[in-house]
Amino acid sequence: MYFPEYRPRRLRRTEGLRRLVREATLSVDHLVYPCFVLPGEKVRNPVQAMPGVAQLSVDELLKELETVTDLGIPGVILFGLPAGKDERGSEAYSRTGIVQEAVKAVKDRFPDLVVVTDVCLCEYTSHGHCGVLKGHDVDNDATLELLAQVAVSHARAGADMVAPSDMMDGRVGRIRESLDEDGFEEVAILAYAAKYCSAFYGPFREAADSAPQFGDRRSYQMDPCNSLEALREVALDIEEGADIVMVKPALPYLDIVRRVREEFDRPVAAYQVSGEYSMIKAAAAQGWLDESRVMMESLTAIRRAGASFILTYFAKDAARLLREERS
Ligand code: PBG
Repeated sequence: MYFPEYRPRRLRRTEGLRRLVREATLSVDHLVYPCFVLPGEKVRNPVQAMPGVAQLSVDELLKELETVTDLGIPGVILFGLPAGKDERGSEAYSRTGIVQEAVKAVKDRFPDLVVVTDVCLCEYTSHGHCGVLKGHDVDNDATLELLAQVAVSHARAGADMVAPSDMMDGRVGRIRESLDEDGFEEVAILAYAAKYCSAFYGPFREAADSAPQFGDRRSYQMDPCNSLEALREVALDIEEGADIVMVKPALPYLDIVRRVREEFDRPVAAYQVSGEYSMIKAAAAQGWLDESRVMMESLTAIRRAGASFILTYFAKDAARLLREERS
């Protein structure tokens, strides 16, 4: 049936009609809020390149999470800024490391909040790469042992879910094995399965102080030109025991989100990364974009592509807006 019998505008005429036929939905249930935690007390360092985001000491983090839980946001992902860095990123797997301390405090105060931890070495190594070095490259197999130690130390602190973001081959299997051996079989793995080597991570490297001191991450993160490879990466991670697979960044990679959604039977997470956030913030600050509308449109688009949930620095703002819309 074609025009004039069929008129798509009939169902767009009123908000009631539009609501009835709406396909993708976004709710607070779909949001995970990333936080940066550092040692000290009463520390709140705003991240210049990410307006509205700050590095927080544990006490300040707990205050922040009061808001997050009041808004009904179901989960957070924690990134740590250690007191010191070394070649092997040893603060990442120390029992008294900053993330371990933060997880304990957060789970103690907010037992129902889903606490995810980022498992990587780049914030902890003096050279800023995501693993240990052999010459000028990251040594894959030597890194696996350390990543497994990081994951187990987070699980021991009480993390609900560990999220390896390093992109070493075989890390999901290795982490699963170590978690199970230590009695953490109930701790889930959220694998950054298709993580691209993206310039959109720029602002994060200020927030997490994790820029590589030489070279780049192209020998471990994925080439932005590839999509079949993303499917292989996802298949491997599921084979190795990933409970949830993630695509990152989100908006420039919605085709990947969609393909993973269609081809695999696992929840798919998408990470709206720092650069995606900062671009919107910057344009809004100039008066060039309507921040709230672009935020909601981008998050809804990520859901429409097939994401089960979204890691986003907009989580609090979006949750607030969703609450206002409902009341
Ligand atoms: C750690 C990690 C990064 C991000 C999440 N985990 C940075 C990177 O890979 O360089 C990026 C998140 C963001 O940009 O918001 N490996």
